This record gives sequence, structure tokens and C-alpha cells, in this order.
Amino acid sequence: MRSKILELLRSKHGNCISGAEIASQLGVSRTAVWKHINELKSAGYHIESKARSGYCLLECPDKLLPELVKHNLSTSFMGQNVISYEDIPSTNNEAKVLAAQGAVEGTVVVSEAQSTGKGRLERSFFCPAGGLWFSVILRPDFLPQEAPKCTLMSAVAVARAMRDMGLDAGIKWPNDIYCQGRKLTGILTEMSGEMDRINYLVVGIGINANIPLESFPEDIKDKAGSMSGILGHDIDRVVFLQKILTYMENLYVDVLKNGFDWALDQWREYSITLGQLIDVVGVQEKFAGVAEDIDEDGALLVRTDTGLRRVLAGDVSIRPR
Ligand code: BTN
Repeated sequence: MRSKILELLRSKHGNCISGAEIASQLGVSRTAVWKHINELKSAGYHIESKARSGYCLLECPDKLLPELVKHNLSTSFMGQNVISYEDIPSTNNEAKVLAAQGAVEGTVVVSEAQSTGKGRLERSFFCPAGGLWFSVILRPDFLPQEAPKCTLMSAVAVARAMRDMGLDAGIKWPNDIYCQGRKLTGILTEMSGEMDRINYLVVGIGINANIPLESFPEDIKDKAGSMSGILGHDIDRVVFLQKILTYMENLYVDVLKNGFDWALDQWREYSITLGQLIDVVGVQEKFAGVAEDIDEDGALLVRTDTGLRRVLAGDVSIRPR
């Protein structure tokens, strides 16, 4: 009902619509309309109530609310179910609970801030208000070892959406997005599965969207950047999230139907790692070499003095030329 009232208000483009008209169009009482309008106001919508002419919507809040994210979203399933929070420990944790309860594929859990955002390799991730912190539930018909495909295609979707916003974004293996030498995005995929099947995947994406550079903590302030910091203005996070969800759905559907080649080619095109001399800190080893390619499983192929090595997990740093 709240979304429907909002649609009606929006359709008037800042002009008023009477409570009676809303009530009759939606088949509810005027008191119910009044209650919903008050709820919308408390959620941050700037709605003016005028004695004679009714209600007019002056401004939507700068929040990632479900009805805003779903408004004009052209996907068929990605982001069509959105659960939003003001502040939770981790959207990945919440998404895992919902996925275990049977949440539909494409469900998005988003939070304005996260108190204990999780990064790769058990690290913590800085997630203040202004960023874009969300997790997507996927249920691909893949073998568990193919799960990294979803992380890689998500990185492609984010990089492409950033390029649409005018940023020269590139992917650093395995799935960090960088721009002007600073990390803007990290992705953490978690899985529940058995030996031969995936129950669900939660792809958690953390984007430094509208974050002032001076607010980054000491330990990351030289490495992290934000979209607003580079562009010089804040971005519309709702529009940006919609772009990512649209690209993600296109890539995902293509991967399921036609295999991984197209997504992989785009990953290669956006990569800032391939062709570079890199230092690899793997799970048990450290070595240097030239990043030559990635394979179907998302492993990085590194040419070293002793031959080609395959890296499935770990960190790489690119040596300056
Ligand atoms: C990394 O670069 O180490 C990955 C960071 C992933 C952060 C995102 S923010 C949304 C989702 N919820 C989490 O707790 N983590 C991921």
C-alpha cells in the first residue's frame, strides 16, 4: 500500500492529489491513506499536506528504501525483493539467515551502515553511512567450486556501472574495484552448499559511494577512495544500485544460459591486474610473477621463473612500473 500511495504521489510530479482520490483509486479509507502518509513522512519523505488540495510529494529521502530501489527497476528478479535497514552488523549475515529461510533468488539486503561489516580473509570492512552496502541472494545451478564465477561477474557489473558514472574503474584480482589507485569496492561471497550442489550464495558488495575521504580511518586512508571523493560530488545511490542490479542480472542470466565466456572476457577487459608484475600472498605461499590470465574457475594464472602458477585465493599487489 505504501508503494502504491507513493506511486500516485509521484505521478503528480510535485502537484497535489487529494486524500479522497488516493482512497478511491486504491480502494481504502481516507483514514488509512492519512496513516500511510504519516508513515511515509516519518520514513523521511517530504510530503506537504494542504487543507484544500491534498498531499504533494516534494522530496524523497536519500535512503536505500525498498520502494525507491524497486521504482522503475527493469530487472525481472534481481532486486525485486529488497529488505533495507538503517544499521545492522552485516548484510551478508542477514542475507544468509533469509536465504536459509527460503528467500527468493535476487533478494537484496541493504543497510545504510554496518556496525561489523565483513571483508575477505576474515578482515573487517569500514561501512559508514553514505556508502552502498548490500548483499544479493543467488541460487545458481552450479557446482560449489564454480561459485567464484558469481563474484567475478558481480565485479564486472559494478565496474561497468561505475564507468557509466564517469569513473575509470578497473578490477584488481580477485574482485576489488579500483579507480585512480584507490580501492572503491570490495566483494565477499559466502556459500551454503553440499559436495555437489550450491544451496545459496550471498554476494556481499561494499562500495565507498558518498564518503568524505577524511573520514577513512588511519589504517586505510592511503589506500581507500570513494566515488564522491573522485567525482567531486555525491552520487544518487538508488540509481547506481539499480544499474548494478540490472548489469548483474544480464550477466548472471547469460552465465547460466551460455556459460562463463562472455563474463570472463569482460572481466579481462576491465582487469588492472593482467599483464602486470605482481606480488602474490597466497594462503601458504608468497611469490612474484606476471599475471597472465584468469581461468574458468576465477583462478589467477601467474608466470614465474619456475613456470605457470595457479592462484585460487589470496591477495595480490601490483608493482609500480
Ligand atoms: C573485501 O574487500 O574484503 C570485501 C568486502 C565486502 C564488504 C561487503 S559490504 C556488504 C556485505 N556485508 C558485509 O558484511 N560484507 C559485505
